[in-house]
Amino acid sequence: MIKQLMGLKQLRQEKWYHYHDIIECLIGALEAKDAYTKGHSERVAHMAYDIGKQCGLKGAKLEKLHIAGHLHDIGKIGIPDYILRKPGKLLPQEYEMIRTHSQMGYDILIKSKVLKNIADIVLYHHERWDGRGYPHALKGEDIPFESRILAISDAIDAMTSRRSYKVAVTWEACYKEVKANSGIQFDPEIVIKMDSLWKQWEAQYSINYASHA
Ligand SMILES: [Fe+2]
Ligand SMILES: [Fe+2]
Repeated sequence: MIKQLMGLKQLRQEKWYHYHDIIECLIGALEAKDAYTKGHSERVAHMAYDIGKQCGLKGAKLEKLHIAGHLHDIGKIGIPDYILRKPGKLLPQEYEMIRTHSQMGYDILIKSKVLKNIADIVLYHHERWDGRGYPHALKGEDIPFESRILAISDAIDAMTSRRSYKVAVTWEACYKEVKANSGIQFDPEIVIKMDSLWKQWEAQYSINYASHA
């Protein structure tokens, strides 16, 4: 019996490894469209995993959150390159176009038997705690828990990375910004749970950001 269980566990781990590998490859192709976003989804996936764990998620739930992190911006595949790479401020109609990427991501994922269970998490990753997000202006706990975690990890990586239209902020400034937006943009309980993670992230990701300079 133990042998059988070990076999199943190994099989599950192998399947997970291949599944994860293909997703990373797919997102690598998407991020190749814009050099500034290289590694973004991977960092978001890892930070979301750390936050999820801190919030008590385990096993398959944590894996699901991690995969959703890798795929959160998959809908950007449908956004014209000139908008994704635009160095200056976006025109209102260009910004509107960018905002369609969460729905586009949902539409892509819902077609897959394996990935449809993360379609909702991706759809709502730009919602805000105060209800001023998109695409459906959901508020507070109406937003799926995993999407609330992704929203914070996404914002942290966007702030601490250099993009074609902005410089990177320091981890200290980012921490203050997230705290200032607790209960406004972000779920306040998740923000509290993250307190022990900042030092670790700064040490882990500062090397990546230095290479952006
Ligand atoms: Fe996004
Ligand atoms: Fe993102």
